[in-house]
Amino acid sequence: MSHAATIAALFAASPVILAPMEDITDHVFRRVCRSLGARLCVTEFVRAEQMIARSKLARRKATLGPDDRPTAIQIYGADARLLMEAAEIAAAAAPAYVDVNCGCWVPRVARGGAGAAWLRDPAKMVAMAAQVVGAVGMPVTVKTRIGWGAESEMPIVDLARRLEDVGVAGLTIHCRTAQQGHGGKADWSWARRAREVVTMPVVVNGDVATADDAARALAETGCAAAMIGRAAISNPWVFREATAWLERGERLPPATPAERRAMYRDLLAANIAARGPVHGVRCTRRHVPVVAPLIDEATRRALYVAETAEQALALIGMEG
Ligand SMILES: Cc1cc2nc3c(=O)[nH]c(=O)nc-3n(C[C@H](O)[C@H](O)[C@H](O)COP(=O)(O)O)c2cc1C
Repeated sequence: MSHAATIAALFAASPVILAPMEDITDHVFRRVCRSLGARLCVTEFVRAEQMIARSKLARRKATLGPDDRPTAIQIYGADARLLMEAAEIAAAAAPAYVDVNCGCWVPRVARGGAGAAWLRDPAKMVAMAAQVVGAVGMPVTVKTRIGWGAESEMPIVDLARRLEDVGVAGLTIHCRTAQQGHGGKADWSWARRAREVVTMPVVVNGDVATADDAARALAETGCAAAMIGRAAISNPWVFREATAWLERGERLPPATPAERRAMYRDLLAANIAARGPVHGVRCTRRHVPVVAPLIDEATRRALYVAETAEQALALIGMEG
């Protein structure tokens, strides 16, 4: 099977994919989303230099447990040779595929030439992707945006074709420019235009927040899958809702308050088990949006500074 066919099969089995999100989509949250229908996940991005140095952070981010599959490992960096080396290390962890981030717009990443900065020089991005593809014997995909932002013509359509030509096996398009950050509205029509010129599978991303959005994004673009990021933070049940709607035409009710509370409790327990009581409680604060609809502002603020599981559980109305 070609690498693109392998990726197509993975996407076909997972029409809604959990987006990589730094400090959110760790193995604990991936397990939750997978149990709710995100059958394919991507790790938070891992900096090539850290991967190569086998830093503690890189090892934590790029280690995949037996119940954490299929999951792709995402890497980022500004130097093609370092990305090749990092991709080899990532491949050794036997992920579903290696994904190269060419879409992160945050200045700390893009200013140094990594992430979305690759969009400023599409030819250089294609050359880098060719090198990474050549470095590993497994599918390599790219996640990017429609362009940097100042172009009169967005490069993404031509870029998709050229990335496919050098062996990239799949492409995820966050349908904004880098300069937009998370502002404005994602324009899914770019995912359709790019999808039309390639045979490798394309994933549409950006502003897919509900089951209806997922259905619309897939219908409007013909993409192989839709990727969901921010909406999953407060509503990981979106994967359950979207798969029920897409696969069975079934409308599921939203998560109940009891489910939201139980989710927070389970995330606390899982984070404490993985990271110890102090760090586990602090890490779980990133998931406060799960219970935010149930609590007032003062309680929410208190939850962000609660230092023990008992305090946190009491604030959301649960026994420790
Ligand atoms: C907190 C946060 C962290 C993110 N970290 C990453 C990352 O590590 N790698 C990546 O490719 N994209 C990252 N993104 C971008 C998302 O994967 C996604 O492309 C973007 O949020 C648009 O999708 P959405 O509208 O569904 O959120 C991050 C986004 C957020 C909000």
